[in-house]
Amino acid sequence: MLWGGRFDEKLNHNAMEFSSSFYFDKNLFDEDILVDYSHARMLNGIGLLTDAELGKIIDGLARIKKEWDDNFWKPGNDKFEDVHSAIESRLFELIGPVAGKLHTGRSRNDQIATVMKLWIKKSSAAITKEIKKVQVALLTAAEKNTGTIMPGYTHLQRAQPISLAFHLLAYVEMLARDYKRFLGVIEECNTCPLGSGALAGSTLPLDRDASSEELNFTAPTANALDSVSDRDFMIDFMHACSMGMMHLSRFAEELILWTSAEWNFVRLSDKYTTGSSLMPQKKNSDMAELVRGKTGKVFGNQFALLATMKGLPLSYNRDLQEDKLPVFSSFETYTQSLGLIAEMVLTMEVNKERFIEELKGDFIFATDLADWLVLKGIPFREAHHIVGALVKKLETEKKKFSDADLDYLKSVNSIFDESAFECFNVETCLDRKKTYGSPNRAFVKKEIEIWKERLKAGS
Ligand code: ARG
Repeated sequence: MLWGGRFDEKLNHNAMEFSSSFYFDKNLFDEDILVDYSHARMLNGIGLLTDAELGKIIDGLARIKKEWDDNFWKPGNDKFEDVHSAIESRLFELIGPVAGKLHTGRSRNDQIATVMKLWIKKSSAAITKEIKKVQVALLTAAEKNTGTIMPGYTHLQRAQPISLAFHLLAYVEMLARDYKRFLGVIEECNTCPLGSGALAGSTLPLDRDASSEELNFTAPTANALDSVSDRDFMIDFMHACSMGMMHLSRFAEELILWTSAEWNFVRLSDKYTTGSSLMPQKKNSDMAELVRGKTGKVFGNQFALLATMKGLPLSYNRDLQEDKLPVFSSFETYTQSLGLIAEMVLTMEVNKERFIEELKGDFIFATDLADWLVLKGIPFREAHHIVGALVKKLETEKKKFSDADLDYLKSVNSIFDESAFECFNVETCLDRKKTYGSPNRAFVKKEIEIWKERLKAGS
């Protein structure tokens, strides 16, 4: 027990059960031990722990870590307020009263803020690795599909032809922004709250620079009150998870559409699909649906902590203990989703021929035809109108561009000549694109190469 002195009675059982965070903050075990080590060394450095006392504490902590890793010491969830009290009480059991010196000049308030920053840094770095794996998977699929033609959509209506590689590269870009967002989160965690005490620092000559340096932060935090109240970095982390999940969810939605019989564009591996208990023919894209489905929870996690924070007066309030579950939940769901999406992409089969026949002479080439007219000197608005009239006429007659011959085109406008038919060519439509960032195969191939290099270089 960390605080028994001024109490006559033990905490009520229900109150203990209600308030204990041990069952989830035990996730922070490793970081808590790290902070304990560094605090003990700092206390030794300023003369508040002798070398012998430091030795005992370090040995004790090492033993606790081993006992924990070996599952030898298994503290029950109902025994401790939190992971910090569990470790400290075990230290007492192992090394006796000298354990009581470890908490000198420290509060669980600055301790938990420090521990959480370390955990967020570690977890953000782990996420960046998973993001990269998805990017690599997308690039691998893109490389095989630079010529796989498909309709590009706006409003989910056919808009202009693109390639699957181009479509997948759009997600590589999104994921690159997610990656950067996590680097930003790591950056935000670079100052060390340890030594801020409960809220107002300490009368003991704690060496905050030493703690900060030892724990790999760049500097100690500047204001003790802010240090123990700040949960911005955790909200930033969950925001980064939300953005990442939002991107994965959009991709999951596309996989779900593409695997339907109506699209018949992609087949997912059996490993990532499930059947129906009633309909024998069904092969459902459940993993993709769950990525989409769990995204709502990840958004909610971010809002849960925002809501916890909005009315809190400075500084630490016990409400802040509720910050961890949503953070752990977002981390778990997002990393699992990244892993599954990477696997699904690597193992999916693409029906490369799917749209070739269907897009021959499709109205999807209308913009290209309008551009052709522009090159003949017609103002774009007029060109748009001419092609619109042509589409209307063909559509009324249940025809496509490919059903029109030159006389037909000329009946709409005499400016048309044979070269206009090149606009309807499925084979050349991608490479007719001139602009940087378009699905022109040469640009797309170059982008794939650039991304491969970047990912190899570790950016
Ligand atoms: N377990 C608490 C938390 O995670 C830290 C304990 C601080 N408690 C206190 N009464 N000052 O926020």
